[in-house]
Amino acid sequence: MILVTGGAGYIGSHTVKELRSRGYDVVVYDNLSTGHIEAVGDAVFVKGDLFDVELLKDTFKKYGVDSVIHFAAYSLVGESMTNPIKYYKNNVSGTLCLLEAMVSCDVKYLVFSSSAATYGDTGEDIITENSPQNPTSVYGMTKLMMERLMSDFDKAYGLKYVALRYFNAAGADESGLIGEDHNPESHLIPIIMQVLNGKRGKLGIFGDNYPTFDGTCVRDYVHIMDLADAHIKALESLRAGANSNYYNLGNGNGFSVRQVIETVEKVVGRKVNCEVVPRRAGDPAVLVASSDKIKRELGWNPVYNSLEKIVASAWKWHSTHPDGYKTK
Ligand code: UFG
Repeated sequence: MILVTGGAGYIGSHTVKELRSRGYDVVVYDNLSTGHIEAVGDAVFVKGDLFDVELLKDTFKKYGVDSVIHFAAYSLVGESMTNPIKYYKNNVSGTLCLLEAMVSCDVKYLVFSSSAATYGDTGEDIITENSPQNPTSVYGMTKLMMERLMSDFDKAYGLKYVALRYFNAAGADESGLIGEDHNPESHLIPIIMQVLNGKRGKLGIFGDNYPTFDGTCVRDYVHIMDLADAHIKALESLRAGANSNYYNLGNGNGFSVRQVIETVEKVVGRKVNCEVVPRRAGDPAVLVASSDKIKRELGWNPVYNSLEKIVASAWKWHSTHPDGYKTK
């Protein structure tokens, strides 16, 4: 049995859906502070908090859990800069509680949702797993600290983990039944879609004076179902006896904010109302991944390898769910 923390959230719910479609038994553990019960599908659901070590232990025992995929975390770069207490407490202390419960119940395998934000501004065109990790945001620092916790738990207790450092998760499952729904929304592609759906007046482009070819930030967008597949491959490698490891997950192509807007306009066939506004604190100029390591070692191969495909799947969800899961 696999326990998925944050399984009611955006990346968690897509991974749960893929696990279930491949026949895995899953228990979702989520406090629903940002997740959606509608996204859980047919997995077992336990409403619980990472800080509730006793409930975690009971859940591990009750369902015979041998592996954990850990998504539960706050994930807004901007918010982390103004409210670091919330981020260090939930992400770092919450993970410590989870690891403590795992050690106490002898749950040995952990796949962890880390982030490109652990790298910060590397100044490198393409980031490999050997690039220095100097986060520019509190959010990125919490993910780096979580990776360190796991490494120390491996040394001390033999906990085996894979940290997946994903770049910009985007898109939605082709079923159109689950997708991205944050409140408030802060991510670029869903915000553009909200503008197109008339839910928001215009998109603010956060700065056009970065050292990039058009002055706007460059990111590597990777499809949510390709991420889901990577989590399953990582877990299978641990269960087959692999050592702890860490991998980047991206498509290897950088797109500026302006290019993302143009791609959405092309896919949807409408203009996006936007204006340049001041920079957002904590944003690195460029984040583009080399994912060669996971391709080589785990045979990961992203299916959604173009921004058009990613945007089209996102639009399928947003155009049919303009109010997210609340859409009637
Ligand atoms: N952006 C805008 N206007 C907006 C929203 C975003 O210009 O209204 C820009 C941002 O400045 C950034 C780009 O669009 O340059 C992408 O921003 P997102 O908020 O969509 O994504 P981030 O790159 O900030 O962060 C995402 C995840 C993090 C993860 C990070 C790693 O949200 O969890 O990718 O790159 F750590």
